[in-house]
Amino acid sequence: MSGPTVRILRDAQGVAEAAADQVIEAGIAAVAARGVFHLCTTGGSTPAALYRALREPSRASRMPWAQTQIWFGDDRFVPRADALSNVSPLDAQLLSPSADGASSPLSPSAVHPWPTTAADAPTAVSAYLAELRGAGVPHTPRGFPIFDLVLIGIGGDGHCLSVFPGSTLALEGALVAAGVPAPIHIEPHVPRLSFSLGAITGARAVLALAPGAGKAEALARIFNSTTAVIDAPAKAALIPTATWLLDAASAAILPS
Ligand code: 6PG
Repeated sequence: MSGPTVRILRDAQGVAEAAADQVIEAGIAAVAARGVFHLCTTGGSTPAALYRALREPSRASRMPWAQTQIWFGDDRFVPRADALSNVSPLDAQLLSPSADGASSPLSPSAVHPWPTTAADAPTAVSAYLAELRGAGVPHTPRGFPIFDLVLIGIGGDGHCLSVFPGSTLALEGALVAAGVPAPIHIEPHVPRLSFSLGAITGARAVLALAPGAGKAEALARIFNSTTAVIDAPAKAALIPTATWLLDAASAAILPS
């Protein structure tokens, strides 16, 4: 089976701009094919630069904002306004007026956070899955939503979404989504809500964003053919539908 497309950009800004261009292309193609663009975004610190690049006038004018619905691959089980929420960078960069006063191009109703006000994780998970079905997102026979594009960041331990090494969510046949206990080995130490890896392998396209020297060791392990998915779950995205955007620093020790 052929593998992913791997692009090595100059630096983190280069990764953000290339990612923004790829999001726009995927959006235009999805709208042309189905009239709507279901984008599943990532958490962590990496997407903020991507969101800023999408607001640049030359890009913002090409993005099909009105037909775009934004979902989250995972989130921390905290209120939306919490700084640890994976929604807060999006709220700040895409749902607020830009620095030059331009109003947000995105309707708040087009953003679908995980329901972190739910009493517990099972309630939040079933509510989110019901919201996806209610929004008409197609699903695989296994029950995974088929997103037009899934964005993932890569953790220093080789995780993606909130599927950490050793997690049952990294196994074949895993639940579609579940609550994840607060990780001890990696920040932030808060409980999560997350899809399992089927949301990545079932997507029409995947974009992995991994800039910076801090990702180099994890990437070397992920791209090492002897590494198992259970030990580096992001390896599940080494698939033909995926594009990996790295920079010189993060690609420094990739196996040849
Ligand atoms: C989360 C994320 C997680 C993230 C990676 C990379 O909720 O933390 O979804 O999977 O993408 O940990 O994080 P950075 O972008 O901050 O390096």
